[in-house]
Amino acid sequence: MTENTRVLFKSRPIGWVDASHFEIVTAPMADPGDGEVLVRNIFMSLDPYMRGRMRDEARYTAGFTLGEVLDGGGVGEIVVSNVDQFSAGDLVTGRLGWENFTVTTADLLNKVDGNVGSLSHYLGVLGMPSMTAWVGMRNIGQAKEGEAVYVSAASGAVGQVAGQIAKLQGCYVAGSAGSDQKVAYIRDELGFDGAFNYKTASSLDDALSAACPKGIDVYFENVGGAMLEAVLLQLNPHARIIACGMISQYNLEKPEGVRNLSTMVGNKVKMQGFIVSDHMDLQAEFMAEMSGWLADGKVKYREDVTQGVENAPAAFIGMLKGENFGKQVVQISEP
Ligand SMILES: NC(=O)c1ccc[n+]([C@@H]2O[C@H](COP(=O)([O-])OP(=O)(O)OC[C@H]3O[C@@H](n4cnc5c(N)ncnc54)[C@H](OP(=O)(O)O)[C@@H]3O)[C@@H](O)[C@H]2O)c1
Repeated sequence: MTENTRVLFKSRPIGWVDASHFEIVTAPMADPGDGEVLVRNIFMSLDPYMRGRMRDEARYTAGFTLGEVLDGGGVGEIVVSNVDQFSAGDLVTGRLGWENFTVTTADLLNKVDGNVGSLSHYLGVLGMPSMTAWVGMRNIGQAKEGEAVYVSAASGAVGQVAGQIAKLQGCYVAGSAGSDQKVAYIRDELGFDGAFNYKTASSLDDALSAACPKGIDVYFENVGGAMLEAVLLQLNPHARIIACGMISQYNLEKPEGVRNLSTMVGNKVKMQGFIVSDHMDLQAEFMAEMSGWLADGKVKYREDVTQGVENAPAAFIGMLKGENFGKQVVQISEP
């Protein structure tokens, strides 16, 4: 009998997540019933929104259940199919568990062809984070040629694509990240015009005004907190803030307040939140455009691959602390 290593949600964190909130167990592999499939998981995605799923409160995605296996975006291969839509050997993406094998239903999966370089791309540059950047820049920020765009968490899964899309639109693009290596990546490899390490900058205000000498027309907001406060002082009239995420707040017991909001009034700033899953009607258009940019070398993408499902908790905690360099995925088995 094949064994299944699984990561369970053991206890609800208050403040920072640590290893004690997870439990790794080995169980016999389950058999799929009628209307179910058995998937061999190949890659799984680790994303900041999963921290929200650990909370005991209403949110836009269903929370994790205590004592149950955690789940999220994944790529795998159908091993056994008891449904008409899939056959053994099909490659699929969709909601899969933090485990070697998942029994699930067809409605949670989509077939993919696998001709994309690495199957992990379906979780990053051709998946949810990249589509978030695409929807945010295009529908929410609407950056125009010649405008100045600033992206925080700019070397991450969403940020690296957001900045490159703005470059393709003819914008001046600046970004920040939490290490000199990440800053070198966005500036030297992705072609950002301005970049700085927000952790070593002596003043966020000075670093922002040096990186964005003509102010900021569009802010792609990934971190919130002190960064948002500083950006508010650099915005140009009619600036737009794409409120994509605020990761600096996710592990705080109480969220911080934000100063400088009054500058939004005189500058007539618009700030809009969005959730990518509300825009799935655009997925085919996103896939066509992003696949083309990737094939033409117009968009580059960096991934951070952790090996082994048992290492997913440490990789998740590390991602929330900025230890990932690029899109964080876990490889569970060979493609
Ligand atoms: N609205 C949506 O539909 C949607 C969808 C996907 C993601 N998001 C949001 O987009 C943001 C980026 O997500 P991602 O998947 O691309 O993650 P990511 O950037 O690949 O990884 C998270 C990064 O956040 C940075 N970070 C962590 N704590 C920070 C802090 N206190 N201050 C500043 N930066 C911090 C770290 O990079 P550094 O080393 O640079 O600090 C870390 O690597 C998150 O806020 C996420 O919630 C929103």
